[in-house]
Amino acid sequence: MSGTVHMRPDGERVLVVEDLVVEFPAGRDQKVHAVSDISFDLLNGETLGILGESGCGKSSAGRAIMQLPPPTSGSVTLSGQRLTGVPAGEMRRHRRKLQMIMQDPVSALNPRRKVKDLVAEGLDIWGEKPSEDDVRAMLTAVGLPPDVVWDRRPHELSGGQCQRVCIARALMLHPGVLICDEPVSSLDVSVQAQILNLLQESKARFGLSMIFIAHDLAVVKSVSDRIMIMYLGKVCEIIGSADLVEHASHPYTRLLLASVPEAALSAVPAQAVEQKPTAGETTATELPSPLSPPSGCRFRTRCPLANGRCAEAEPELREVGPGRFLACHNV
Ligand SMILES: Nc1ncnc2c1ncn2[C@@H]1O[C@H](COP(=O)(O)OP(=O)(O)O)[C@@H](O)[C@H]1O
Ligand code: SF4
Ligand SMILES: [Mg+2]
Repeated sequence: MSGTVHMRPDGERVLVVEDLVVEFPAGRDQKVHAVSDISFDLLNGETLGILGESGCGKSSAGRAIMQLPPPTSGSVTLSGQRLTGVPAGEMRRHRRKLQMIMQDPVSALNPRRKVKDLVAEGLDIWGEKPSEDDVRAMLTAVGLPPDVVWDRRPHELSGGQCQRVCIARALMLHPGVLICDEPVSSLDVSVQAQILNLLQESKARFGLSMIFIAHDLAVVKSVSDRIMIMYLGKVCEIIGSADLVEHASHPYTRLLLASVPEAALSAVPAQAVEQKPTAGETTATELPSPLSPPSGCRFRTRCPLANGRCAEAEPELREVGPGRFLACHNV
């Protein structure tokens, strides 16, 4: 168990993820430890940011929540319904209320289909045919003029427009929870802010709760209520977005913060993303191999505060202030 002290009581929680483990076979009795026993929850209407550098397990966690594929172990509960450990048909029925937006919108769309069909696609799978008016209204809601894009195929759209189609397709299913996995990372900087704004608007308009995954600290901070910082498959720190700059104290979070220009941290979303890529992707040393993660604290090979205890015992998440949790022996 990696500590559940940060979990909130039932009632307002729309999603509960407990003891999530994702491993991939890697030949000769080896396995990739992509996500190693993490737990977290999501309140109704909340945006939880998941932040960490490339390869730390963010997408694996997101996909495991979606059951694409199901996790190696652990449980996922959506609005009180278990998605794990239940028959596949039951899982799929409940999972409908959980939708995901991917990093690369162009490859997420079938290149042969037209926009009108792509937006209806999610409901088609359930044997439900949305009316033309519903599809048009959804296109308008995501900022695409229906008459212009109706018969277009993905290659006739920009990356930002493709991401809008993906968002429309997900929203057609009226999800309770939307998982956004690096939704703006592949887009031009000028388009990133527009898509972030659309997600924020859609969240309010459609009553969504959101998990927002990204490696860019300024982007995550600009949209999240709480932020969960991950390193090599583990949770380092969980903190309110407003407390991040002043109170985050895990050595890894401090390292991420140090690599972000100060202006980017106080900016509104539209300005925050005008920065060059920052945060984890540019830290000096490479991640250790997830095939054989370091013993004890996984961050110890890069941590300026590491001592003997860090190699021997894994630090548990503990509360260090109101709504602030971190896993470290030395802070
Ligand atoms: N299908 C897979 N098979 C084997 N290894 C994988 C697979 N998907 C991801 N990984 C590995 O799992 C680790 C976590 O990857 P990922 O979840 O994509 O991280 P992130 O989204 O944070 O960049 C990485 O080491 C990655 O190479
Ligand atoms: S437990 Fe040790 S290695 Fe890990 S973050 Fe804390 S001081 Fe660094
Ligand atoms: Mg990823």
